[in-house]
Amino acid sequence: MSTVALIGAGKMGEALLIGMLRRGHEVLVAESNPTRAAELAELDGVEVCTATAAVAAADVVIVAVKPHQIIELVADLASSIRATTPIVSVAAGISVRALEAAVAKDEAGRQLAVIRAMPNTPALVGEGMIAISPSAGCSGAQVSMTIEMLSSVGQVVVVPEEQQDAVTALSGSGPAYIFLVAEAMIDAAVALGLEPSQARDLAVQTIFGAATMLRESTDAPAVLRGNVTSPNGTTAAAIEALERNELRAAFTAALSGAHARSIEMTAEFSSDS
Ligand SMILES: NC(=O)c1ccc[n+]([C@@H]2O[C@H](COP(=O)([O-])OP(=O)(O)OC[C@H]3O[C@@H](n4cnc5c(N)ncnc54)[C@H](OP(=O)(O)O)[C@@H]3O)[C@@H](O)[C@H]2O)c1
Repeated sequence: MSTVALIGAGKMGEALLIGMLRRGHEVLVAESNPTRAAELAELDGVEVCTATAAVAAADVVIVAVKPHQIIELVADLASSIRATTPIVSVAAGISVRALEAAVAKDEAGRQLAVIRAMPNTPALVGEGMIAISPSAGCSGAQVSMTIEMLSSVGQVVVVPEEQQDAVTALSGSGPAYIFLVAEAMIDAAVALGLEPSQARDLAVQTIFGAATMLRESTDAPAVLRGNVTSPNGTTAAAIEALERNELRAAFTAALSGAHARSIEMTAEFSSDS
């Protein structure tokens, strides 16, 4: 089993920590909030220590602090990290180039490998979607080890970095779109006379069941939809109303808004660093 250093164990860091512990990895945690650090020290498989000690002993370093904190932090830690250890950043909007510049070649000529990762909040329940973009200097073994670590909280795909803004618009922000769909379905069902708690149960299980069918089937979403849409039936009436009210146009606008904002945020962080 590999040794992982986790620097920053807030919401996303803790989700990653729990998943990695479940897989039996040993995790060295550095967390600046003393109350959280004390709580985490109670978990089996966790050793809480300084960030410098953690990264020096690690096969993989995962950094899960806020985007505005990460560049200075990895720059400070770089000289303590082994040459073969990849540094994985989950910070939104922080580019591979900015990370590489922060850990620029030291006197010994070492350029550490960095990996930019974009997780989403279902990682908290082990069902995350994580897209990673390794730096050009990353070896196949470093990428495989990172995939193994991150897959403890969901599915992992490798994408070219220029696609990270699109990934952010789809899977990064996507859970909130589904929460909004759930809200809208529940409100509409309550207006039809269902109790709010019952409407919630029915909506949640419907979304969960449909998502499970999508994942387990090789059919396109349109085929699954067609299979449950009889001509002139209830589903056909609903789908016709959703199309007439331009659901597709709403999602096109939503994803392009998120995409544009992600590009802007990456540019803001790049000009700060
Ligand atoms: N939450 C999400 O859904 C999500 C999704 C995608 C990506 N991300 C990325 O994940 C990263 C973390 O987000 P989060 O929501 O988990 O933030 P968070 O809850 O604020 O967690 C960050 C933690 O790191 C600690 N920390 C800060 N500097 C540190 C240092 N030098 N050494 C050790 N610990 C340090 C913070 O302690 P203090 O509070 O004392 O500063 C805090 O407990 C962000 O870069 C974000 O872009 C998050």
